[in-house]
Amino acid sequence: MGRVALVTGGSRGIGEAISKALKDAGYTVAATYAGNDEKAAAFTEATGIKTYKWDVGDYEACAAGIAKAEEENGPIDVLVNNAGITRDAMFHRMTPDQWKQVIDTNLTGVFNMTHPIWPGMRDRKFGRVINISSINGQKGQAGQVNYSAAKAGDLGFTKALAQEGARAGITVNAICPGYIATEMVKAIDEKVLNERIIPQIPVGRLGEPEEIARCVVFLASDDAGFITGSTITANGAQFFV
Ligand SMILES: NC(=O)c1ccc[n+]([C@@H]2O[C@H](COP(=O)([O-])OP(=O)(O)OC[C@H]3O[C@@H](n4cnc5c(N)ncnc54)[C@H](OP(=O)(O)O)[C@@H]3O)[C@@H](O)[C@H]2O)c1
Repeated sequence: MGRVALVTGGSRGIGEAISKALKDAGYTVAATYAGNDEKAAAFTEATGIKTYKWDVGDYEACAAGIAKAEEENGPIDVLVNNAGITRDAMFHRMTPDQWKQVIDTNLTGVFNMTHPIWPGMRDRKFGRVINISSINGQKGQAGQVNYSAAKAGDLGFTKALAQEGARAGITVNAICPGYIATEMVKAIDEKVLNERIIPQIPVGRLGEPEEIARCVVFLASDDAGFITGSTITANGAQFFV
């Protein structure tokens, strides 16, 4: 097929599953990460997928990193904006720094990564931008005002940019995972997870990263060319929009 995909936060968690699934589907994949060198090295060793380190919250770093990744792999056809963090606190205790870190990474990071790649996609008349938002961007979540705001912002970004990309052959879509079994979710107190979160998921379990990865592979494909500005909700029936 010869297409190139770049997955932010692609070295572990949901991103790792996405990187692997795209590779299995025939893409040349590049994965970025923020700082966990050990995990990134083990991921490259196991998969043969190249990794690149920069902060998606830093526009200049994104532009330079993307230029390097394109030089080594070819122009990026598929961008998966997956990198994300949580800095949870009830609003009355949330610090400006907790707000800023989450907005910078989860919302501004999507702008920073998409903006340098967009002109090339327009020139080539093909592109796929897939943003990993969250159930908590759809429904809001106490203790996550920063995260919910950023992830809801990603959905607005998706719908607006989809309209701009439509005539240029570029689709822009979002996926809203529910609770998925990754380190981000395992960081939640076990009692809270077992007694408060899992009972709210009608299928009775956490989702698997591979279940999100399969949605990405579909949205990236030629078969999904008429789907743009949409959101795939994958949450085990926990919340309907
Ligand atoms: N897990 C869930 O239940 C769930 C549910 C809904 C939505 N999501 C969303 O799905 C995405 C992936 O979540 P996950 O659970 O797989 O997270 P994770 O296991 O914590 O992995 C996060 C990945 O993002 C990278 N990253 C974090 N901050 C970054 C930054 N500033 N610049 C570049 N890379 C950065 C990390 O790099 P390092 O390895 O270097 O730290 C890591 O590769 C996130 O956007 C998250 O909000 C997750």
